[in-house]
Amino acid sequence: MGELTSQEIVDLCVRHTLFDWQAQGALEPMAVASARGAEFFTVDGKRYLDFNSQLVSVNIGHADPRVADAIAEQARILPYASPGMATEPRALLGRKLAELMPGDLDKVFFCLGGAEANENAIRIARAVTGRQKILARYRSYHGATFATITLTGEPRRWGNEPGMPNVVHVLDPHHGTQRPVDDAETSLGYLEETIQLEGPGTIAAFILEPVPGANGILIPPDGYLQGVRDLCDRYGILMIADEVMSGFGRTGRWFAVDHWDVVPDILTMAKGLASSYVPISAVGLRPKVYEHFDERVYWGGLTWNSHTLACAAALATLRVYEEDGLVEHAAEMGEVMAGHHRELAERHPSVGLVRNLGLFGIVELVRSRETMEPMAPFNGTSEEMKAVAAYLDEHGLFTLVRWNGIMTNPPLPITERQLAEGFEILDGALAVADRAVV
Ligand SMILES: Cc1ncc(COP(=O)(O)O)c(C=O)c1O
Repeated sequence: MGELTSQEIVDLCVRHTLFDWQAQGALEPMAVASARGAEFFTVDGKRYLDFNSQLVSVNIGHADPRVADAIAEQARILPYASPGMATEPRALLGRKLAELMPGDLDKVFFCLGGAEANENAIRIARAVTGRQKILARYRSYHGATFATITLTGEPRRWGNEPGMPNVVHVLDPHHGTQRPVDDAETSLGYLEETIQLEGPGTIAAFILEPVPGANGILIPPDGYLQGVRDLCDRYGILMIADEVMSGFGRTGRWFAVDHWDVVPDILTMAKGLASSYVPISAVGLRPKVYEHFDERVYWGGLTWNSHTLACAAALATLRVYEEDGLVEHAAEMGEVMAGHHRELAERHPSVGLVRNLGLFGIVELVRSRETMEPMAPFNGTSEEMKAVAAYLDEHGLFTLVRWNGIMTNPPLPITERQLAEGFEILDGALAVADRAVV
C-alpha cells in the first residue's frame, strides 16, 4: 500500500470502477487514505472532520482497534462457515440483538446490507400474511435493489421504474420547507383512508423509517408512530420499522422507535450494526412473525447469511457502544448540537429550519423566512447550495449537502470541542448563503 499517488488512485478508480448515483463523466472522487475517530485523511494529507459518519453509518467512529482486532482474530480462526451451521459469533450476536431490540423482538435473520434486510422483511411479511401489497412513504429511502428502490418514495426511485408491482406510496406528515408538518391525527387520517381505498385485506405491511434520514431527518409528530402501530393492528398489517439509518444510538436511543415506545413487528438494521467496518445487516422479528416458519419454510437465503467475520465485527462494535456509553453520549451531544443549531438560526437569516434527535440532525436553508422558499428546489440544487458545499469542503468539514439541507450526523464519540469546530465552519459557510436571502 502507499505506492499510488492521489491522482493515480482517482484515475484508476474512475477508469475501472463504476460509481453509483452519478454520471461518470464529471466525477471527482476524493482519494481517502486513513481515518480515526471522527476524522479522516486524504491521500494528500488533508484532514476532514466527518459530520456525516460517511453514509451515516460509522457510528462508533473510524478505525477503532477493538473492532479491527476482533475481525483479525475471527479471520484467523474461522472466517466463514456456511449458513446452515451454528457458530459462536452468530450465537452471541443473535442473543445480544435480542436483548437490545424493543419489546418481544428476539430473533434475527442476517443479511449484508440495508436493502437486503428490507427485501427480506417484505418477503417475510408477504409469506406470513398471505397478502401482497406493501405501503411505503414518499419521503423515504429503503435501498437500491429492485424491490427496495420501488419501496423508496423519493426521486431515486424514478429512474428505476417500472419497479416491483403492489407497492403503494402514502403521504407522510412532512411536506417540505414551505408547508407545516401535519399533526398526527391528520396524517393518520390520510393513511387510514389509503388503507381503506386499497383494501385492508390486501396489504401485507407498512414499511417506514421512524425518522426518515436521507430525506431530511423528519422527526414525526407525537402520536404518529403510536397511531401507525394501532392502524396496523386494526387491519392485520405488519409494521416494518426501517432503522437502517436511525438505529444503533444515532438518535440517542438504541433504536428510534424507543423514543415513542413503539414495538414494530419487523425491524431492519444495518449501517451502525458493525459501524460499516464490514457489511452486515439484520431483520429483527417478533414471535408472532417468526412462529409462522416453525412448520413452514422461509424461501430465502444468502451465501453470506450469518457470516462469521461480520458477526464478530458486529459483536465487537456493540461492545464498543456499551463500554464507551456511546448511546448516552449521543443523547448528551444531541443537546449540545441543538444549541449550535439554535445559534446558527439566530445568526443567519438563511437558516429556515433546524432539527435533530440525538446526533441525527439537519440545517435547512431558505431564501426568505417569510415565504420559506427553499435555497434549492426539491430534488435540485442551486448556486448557493453549491457554494456552501464548496466552502465546507475547502475548510475540511465533510458532510452531505442535499437539496436545501446540510446534514449534521457525526460519529457518536464526537466531543464537544469537535462539535464546536464543525459548527464554526458551518457558521462561516452560511455567510455565503445569507447573501442570497431576500
Ligand atoms: C433508511 C435506509 N434504509 C435502507 C438503506 C439501504 O441500505 P444499503 O445501502 O446498506 O443497502 C439506507 C441507506 O442509506 C437507508 O438510509
